[in-house]
Amino acid sequence: MKRVITYGTYDLLHYGHINLLQRARALGDYLIVALSTDEFNWNSKQKKCYFSYEKRKKMLEALRCVDLVIPEENWEQKAEDVRLYKVDTFVMGDDWTGKFDFLKEQCEVVYLPRTPEISTSQIKSDLKA
Ligand code: CTP
Repeated sequence: MKRVITYGTYDLLHYGHINLLQRARALGDYLIVALSTDEFNWNSKQKKCYFSYEKRKKMLEALRCVDLVIPEENWEQKAEDVRLYKVDTFVMGDDWTGKFDFLKEQCEVVYLPRTPEISTSQIKSDLKA
């Protein structure tokens, strides 16, 4: 069984997220999403989520293309996750191209093209306007 992992916040789940998750899942047979906790988002990314971790987790778990959701609590956990979950392929959107190449020693690293013209930040700013 080929295991794939990806990381992110997935707040205000949108079709750009779904596109990414479906393509990530299609690269293997089992998709793990490491979902940024509220604390990690706030402390490390200065991002305040609209939906709590538990709600974001529940929405991801309802998707057919997602097999397991685990917490992302810090920047450093990736190598350990890859080892622990016996990951074959690490996937991120291409806004992260090159940033996680150090994982190539452990597994395949794939950056998928982002879906144009949609993001959580864009939705938030459009709703404010
Ligand atoms: N993603 C994507 N296409 C988009 C938006 C996001 O492929 N249009 C991917 C990202 O590259 C990442 C994953 O979805 O691998 C989760 O992204 P996240 O940062 O949670 O979502 P964004 O909508 O980019 O949120 P923000 O605007 O807060 O950065």
